[in-house]
Amino acid sequence: MGREFASALARWCHLPDMPARPELVAICDRFDSLPADLGRWYTENFPSIHQATSDYKELLGNPEVEAVYCAVPHHLHQEFYCAALEAGKHLMGEKPFGIDQPANRAILEALQKHPELQVRCSSEFPFFPAVQRIGDMIEREAFGRVLEVNCGFLHSSDLDPLKPINWKRQVEFNGEYGCMGDLGMHVCHVPFRAGWRLRNVRAILSKIVMERPDGKGGVAPCRTWDNATLFCEAECGAGGAVFPLTMKTQRMAPGAKNTWYLEIYGTKASARFSTRNPRRLELLEYRGGEQSWQQVDMGQETAFKTITGSIFEFGFSDAILQMWAGFVYELATGQRRKTFAGCVTPEETALTHGLLTAALESHRRSQTVSFE
Ligand SMILES: NC(=O)c1ccc[n+]([C@@H]2O[C@H](COP(=O)([O-])OP(=O)(O)OC[C@H]3O[C@@H](n4cnc5c(N)ncnc54)[C@H](O)[C@@H]3O)[C@@H](O)[C@H]2O)c1
Repeated sequence: MGREFASALARWCHLPDMPARPELVAICDRFDSLPADLGRWYTENFPSIHQATSDYKELLGNPEVEAVYCAVPHHLHQEFYCAALEAGKHLMGEKPFGIDQPANRAILEALQKHPELQVRCSSEFPFFPAVQRIGDMIEREAFGRVLEVNCGFLHSSDLDPLKPINWKRQVEFNGEYGCMGDLGMHVCHVPFRAGWRLRNVRAILSKIVMERPDGKGGVAPCRTWDNATLFCEAECGAGGAVFPLTMKTQRMAPGAKNTWYLEIYGTKASARFSTRNPRRLELLEYRGGEQSWQQVDMGQETAFKTITGSIFEFGFSDAILQMWAGFVYELATGQRRKTFAGCVTPEETALTHGLLTAALESHRRSQTVSFE
């Protein structure tokens, strides 16, 4: 993810109307233990880098650094993010923004001492043009009474039992949440930004592959949850209409490569989007009479204007660039360009941790867990 970020900065000229331009001045990774070509990739492509260090404290001590993007395994989030805040750096963290709820709370407490800092968590899928359009519809209350929402993020490469283990399949590095910690923030971003309040959750979690090759000729235990389905009762704001909201985060969803989807069904309008077909927005607007789904081909209807012609397709790296535009725009102007053109806030990470922690409890007790 560090290189995705750096590459987005290199393409900043793609965004003609931005109030600020970020510059990559310092990088940190375990360069002493990584192949040399990783460090070279950064320094050869970014002459603006003045500092490359294996010690994150050195980077945080660099007065040239104003803001930090920190994409490290989950067990390091609390230590690294708190240190960044204590060093007075604006922060874009990664999900799940703390390996568990206590870690998330510790990060938010550190932030309370530095209200002058902008802190956000990465989540790029709401920046797809179709999701921006859906966000505008939510704001206009165009769906009427919300009847049902389904959202999820599905992967499938773990179906291969011979895929070697990595830190994302190990509880000590990825966390007890398993697939939910890895994929859940992406799924929660739109519902929490919409202001939908969860009343309760019933979760069903699956552990499917119990061990994997360790990459050294042996096998290692695989103790993380592979798949999670969360059935929630949600309401449109306190006291608003109640509706079922289903969230799926799965690493073993046959055929799904990197499928983020959102479906909203309402009395006046319904909408469906999936990254499986990234330009397609499906809409059903109901004013009486025949009901029919429209298929709209989206182009570059982005939150932040790009130089790309309006008819051309949008993809993952475009979403990353738009997300960074959202972060930088907010940092430069002190406000979001619009509701759904902003990165996940610390408060939204806390809501996500509340949900994922309740989901673990729900599965453990085979019961619905309430948030009241
Ligand atoms: N937004 C997204 O779409 C997205 C996608 C993938 C991962 N992520 C998140 O990004 C974060 C990192 O995931 P990734 O896939 O990039 O993992 P990765 O394993 O590819 O990268 C993690 C990096 O952290 C470095 N690192 C580990 N310990 C370190 C230390 N002590 N000091 C300095 N560097 C250290 C590693 O060397 C590695 O380069 C996670 O929080 C993950 O959930 C987000």
